[in-house]
Amino acid sequence: MIKLFITATDTDAGKTYVAQTLITALIQKNLKVAAFKPISAGCKKVQTQQGTQLINEDALLLSNVANCQQSIEQINPVAFEEPIAPHIAAQKQNCTIDLAFLNEHYNKITTNSCDVVITEGAGGWRLPLGGGRFLSELVKTTDQHVILVVNMKLGCLNHAVLSYESIISDGLACVGWVANCPETMAYLDENIAELEQLLPMPLLAKLDNETDIEIAAKKFNLTPLISHV
Ligand SMILES: Nc1ncnc2c1ncn2[C@@H]1O[C@H](COP(=O)(O)OP(=O)(O)OP(=O)(O)O)[C@@H](O)[C@H]1O
Ligand SMILES: [Mg+2]
Repeated sequence: MIKLFITATDTDAGKTYVAQTLITALIQKNLKVAAFKPISAGCKKVQTQQGTQLINEDALLLSNVANCQQSIEQINPVAFEEPIAPHIAAQKQNCTIDLAFLNEHYNKITTNSCDVVITEGAGGWRLPLGGGRFLSELVKTTDQHVILVVNMKLGCLNHAVLSYESIISDGLACVGWVANCPETMAYLDENIAELEQLLPMPLLAKLDNETDIEIAAKKFNLTPLISHV
């Protein structure tokens, strides 16, 4: 099974967009793909037969593309209503974000008969969970490989290199990066070329502004990922 964790240089950098695109590309290769969004903050309250449920937009988008018949609760087990740092949302409810629970939940997803599990992080690489813990610890305990999404804009070289260094210093494998280019950037090609020198891992895709996920999915080079089965 391929286990991939999608992180980014920042919040709003394109993690969900890249996750949707990658899941679609893998399904185009006839693979069974499950999705996981361990923690979300920014949800709608929805009334269901089971009571009130918090539904996160990213979880919905991932559920729309993944093909392992997962419920929204399975995709996103920890959800907070307000769009704020998750550990602050947890503190406001007098609760803590439990890494052991997330780890167990992830292990249940891996028992689905799927070929790939794509996890979308929250924020950037070092997302605090409170009490000195970080979401990056889950990536280590669940033995996932990391994909770094770089939102191509001024300042991204610094953010990309710092994120890469941090992932590697955690003892994790960074299997590739994505140049996400929804906005125009001066000297975009030169910046991508510089990152190809600075980041010793393959560029998996350069994604331009494209709302059709099926079209964007064709741009992914899956070879470096599929060799990690
Ligand atoms: N290459 C692209 N082409 C078109 N739209 C894009 C592209 N990349 C990102 N977007 C859009 O930009 C917005 C932010 O991207 P996205 O939601 O994927 O970021 P994120 O890193 O998942 O954010 P968060 O930290 O909130 O989870 C979304 O509306 C998304 O659809
Ligand atoms: Mg997202």
